[in-house]
Amino acid sequence: MKVLYVASEALPFAASGGLADVAGSLPKAIRSRLVGCRVVMPLYESIPQHLRENMTFLTSLSVPVAWRRQYCGVFEAKVDGVIYYLLDNQYYFKRQGLYGHYDDAERFAFFSRAVLEMLPHIGFKPDVINANDWQSALVPLFYHIFYANREGFEGIKTVLTIHNIQYQGKYGMELMEDVLGIPPEHRQLLEYDGCVNFMKAGIECADRVTTVSPTYAQEILDPWFSWGLDPILNARKWKLQGILNGIDTDGYNPVSDPNIVHNFSVEDVEEGKAINKKALQERLCLPQRADVPLIGMVTRLTSHKGLDLVKYIMDTLLTRDVQMVVLGSGEWVYENYFREIQNTYPDKFCYCAGFVPELARKIYASVDIFLMPSKSEPCGLAQMVACRYGTLPVVRETGGLKDSIIDCGNEGGFGFTFKTYNADDMLAAIDRALGAYANKPDLKLLRERCMTQDFTWGRSANTYIRMYKELVK
Ligand code: GLC
Repeated sequence: MKVLYVASEALPFAASGGLADVAGSLPKAIRSRLVGCRVVMPLYESIPQHLRENMTFLTSLSVPVAWRRQYCGVFEAKVDGVIYYLLDNQYYFKRQGLYGHYDDAERFAFFSRAVLEMLPHIGFKPDVINANDWQSALVPLFYHIFYANREGFEGIKTVLTIHNIQYQGKYGMELMEDVLGIPPEHRQLLEYDGCVNFMKAGIECADRVTTVSPTYAQEILDPWFSWGLDPILNARKWKLQGILNGIDTDGYNPVSDPNIVHNFSVEDVEEGKAINKKALQERLCLPQRADVPLIGMVTRLTSHKGLDLVKYIMDTLLTRDVQMVVLGSGEWVYENYFREIQNTYPDKFCYCAGFVPELARKIYASVDIFLMPSKSEPCGLAQMVACRYGTLPVVRETGGLKDSIIDCGNEGGFGFTFKTYNADDMLAAIDRALGAYANKPDLKLLRERCMTQDFTWGRSANTYIRMYKELVK
């Protein structure tokens, strides 16, 4: 069996969020279970030179984008045994940033069309194409309309994985024919609420729709979580499945991570974390105290990450004997807010703006408590990474947070969870975590449990493979 995994970002080449982690680690896990899996993504300008040097040019094609024909170069690279195809078109991809351009609809229509056009030229005919998020959600639609009956393309199954339903690729109807080249008789596949909606088209046309945790698969059937797509998801519920993400436990490993100040394992977690914590406090200009609990957040600063809860209790929390660090950028209201808090409490709170993977890892390894109070969280990877580095997670019971973190009140529990989206409930969970921190035997046991949780891709990769096999049998 052969799978082509289509993603608009994948590590190590380009990343703006969790999709890149998944596209950089799931294919490897699938391949190690003896199922062929290759990845295709755009060749962005930001891909560093040392990675470009290991790419080989395979061929070039002419790709239809409605009435246009656009050049597409196909490059190949191998990472950890996985073949990545990188699709080149400088007009679309030689730009700053991955997304957010005025013509994103056209850029990703081109990408999705190019994925299908390249198939006869690469000597790899997939049994299943797994598209991801709105950027490649047109692959199932294009396959259905233009390729299903074409010689050499017969019998391919398509899967769409939703990593976040908030981002759907919604555009004006005028794009339908002129940019996407969809004939009027297929209009209903793409139209939703009077707009072109890429994700809706993917949900309609894919043979299976998956999302990144079982709880999120349930949640998006409800208008509170669905950003308007619940009617269509309820109608297509039979093909919806939630599969929890794993993380790359080789890449995120405190024993060997070169980004942290001192490597450690479950055997010497106490000393290991203490050394990392001291170094982080120094870097952040916080008092270098070993005994004070250090709370961390690594997050995009958008409202669904639960930042209004954090704002609500911040002053109360900072009256306790704690230190806190927040790393991330996003909406300016939150950036300004955290800057202000840092000015008010300079010896307790530090805000670092940006997306800084090296600092993120130092935070995972150094802090005692990791806070992730999301309003919604399709899967979330940071809570798993934090555990791997011996940090106690405090999370809200939603999406993948609910599916990956077991509260201490339950058997085998290792984290602190709260149910309702309420700031006082969150503070109560933080206080429970602070209580555990103050009790050294508890802390040791919990850290060990966190570090020995199975967050590998093992089980989930098997579930993906089972689903692919069911589709092609
Ligand atoms: C998106 C989701 C996040 C998930 C990630 C990988 O970024 O918001 O919850 O972990 O995709 O699937």
